[in-house]
Amino acid sequence: RIAYVNGRYLPQRFAAVNIEDRGYQFGDGIYEVVHVHDGRLIDEDRHLDRLERSLREIRLPMPMPRAALRLVLREVARRNRVAEGLLYMQVTRGVARRDHAFPSKPVPPALVVTIRRIPPYPTEVDSWAAAAILMPDLRWARRDIKSVNLLPNVLARQAAKERGALEAVLYDEATGIVTEGAATNFWIVDEHGVLRTRHLDHAILPGCTRGALLAELREAGIPCEERAFTVEEARRAREAFITSATSFVKPITRLDGRPVGDGAVGPVARRLFDLFARHVK
Ligand code: PDD
Repeated sequence: RIAYVNGRYLPQRFAAVNIEDRGYQFGDGIYEVVHVHDGRLIDEDRHLDRLERSLREIRLPMPMPRAALRLVLREVARRNRVAEGLLYMQVTRGVARRDHAFPSKPVPPALVVTIRRIPPYPTEVDSWAAAAILMPDLRWARRDIKSVNLLPNVLARQAAKERGALEAVLYDEATGIVTEGAATNFWIVDEHGVLRTRHLDHAILPGCTRGALLAELREAGIPCEERAFTVEEARRAREAFITSATSFVKPITRLDGRPVGDGAVGPVARRLFDLFARHVK
């Protein structure tokens, strides 16, 4: 495997970061994951827009102009001969003597791009369904920034795994309101049949898949409400599913050990899975 590291393409086993990289020491950086499907970068502009925004919010410059970054992403996919995979890019505040405040003499941001092959996206939704658990959301207050600080997400995903689930759906402990998955956005068809996902603010990541699916829904004339719901509403939901660059539209048929609705993939999740399959074609 070939990785891009600060201007060079290297065999991944020789690619290393400096031990004083601020991403390594402080989690002082931003990342993106882009799905490569049939050799195409899915929702690339949404991901690059979000990268720029996240960087701006933590006061980091783009490591290179957007057009150049597009070329690097393609070059990493090409050199690894990946038609179906996940591109990972990470920008950190670079290498400097350890000090919490920004380096007083600016250092160039560090850019790393890697790719890994994944199985082709399934054509059939039933085998794609998964289980999720519910957990309190222990993250910081700016979850709209895609920072590499992922410790609460890591612990939540591990807890899910240990309970035989794929995802941890997180909720605010004070209000009982569901935020999102540990690495996905969360959607339900509520007990009245209304398709819902949480509105955007600082409490969740504005998912690119979420945004693309909402646009497809509008186009198809399928109603959807961007309105928060509680854990109790999620437990009573007819259907549930998650969205992300890694899972696109993935039905959640078990939540916290209990079936969602009748426990089978519902008609709305099925329709949206098909809608998104057309979106990535
Ligand atoms: N995660 N919410 C969180 C907390 C996420 O980390 C992600 C993505 C999403 C979905 O966003 P998008 O549709 O743009 O992938 C929502 C990536 C895939 C990851 O951490 O691997």
